[in-house]
Amino acid sequence: MVGVGVDVVDIVRLVDSLHRTPALVDRLLTPSERSLSDASRAGRVAAKEAVGKALGHPGDFSWQDVTVERTADGRPYLVLRGATERCARALGVTHLHLSLSHDGGVATAIVVAERTVRTATDDDPTAKEPR
Ligand SMILES: CC(C)(COP(=O)(O)OP(=O)(O)OC[C@H]1O[C@@H](n2cnc3c(N)ncnc32)[C@H](O)[C@@H]1OP(=O)(O)O)[C@@H](O)C(=O)NCCC(=O)NCCS
Repeated sequence: MVGVGVDVVDIVRLVDSLHRTPALVDRLLTPSERSLSDASRAGRVAAKEAVGKALGHPGDFSWQDVTVERTADGRPYLVLRGATERCARALGVTHLHLSLSHDGGVATAIVVAERTVRTATDDDPTAKEPR
């Protein structure tokens, strides 16, 4: 494991900020995230903060470098690009796990950055199972 990050976002406070400063929508959210519900948008903002924590805050982090996509059954997953993607690669991250929840006026995101360490026996077909 490389790191873990968690973040919570107050949904109403985010909605207020986006109304007050509309340019924030394009700054914080990627195109596919912008038309989601308020709670889901807050979850995306929390996810981006949590990625920063899991990776130890890459220096030139951009909100646009992290997108939350969904599988056909609704499971969220992260897509990185730019400096954040390069930082994850430099840390040897092989997978980022993401879980989202929103209730009681807050959206929560947890991210686990995983690095799979290959051992000599991974590639050795003669290696025996441990007893
Ligand atoms: C889909 C489900 C996980 C959502 O949970 P919820 O308590 O209604 O809502 P939450 O606010 O906690 O979570 C919502 C987030 O769950 C995530 N989610 C949706 N489907 C998911 C799935 N299949 N797997 C993982 N996460 C999922 C989404 O990111 C969603 O946020 P988004 O819509 O903004 O993207 C839930 O409705 C469900 O189907 N649970 C099944 C539970 C179960 O089978 N338990 C058996 C014991 S193992």
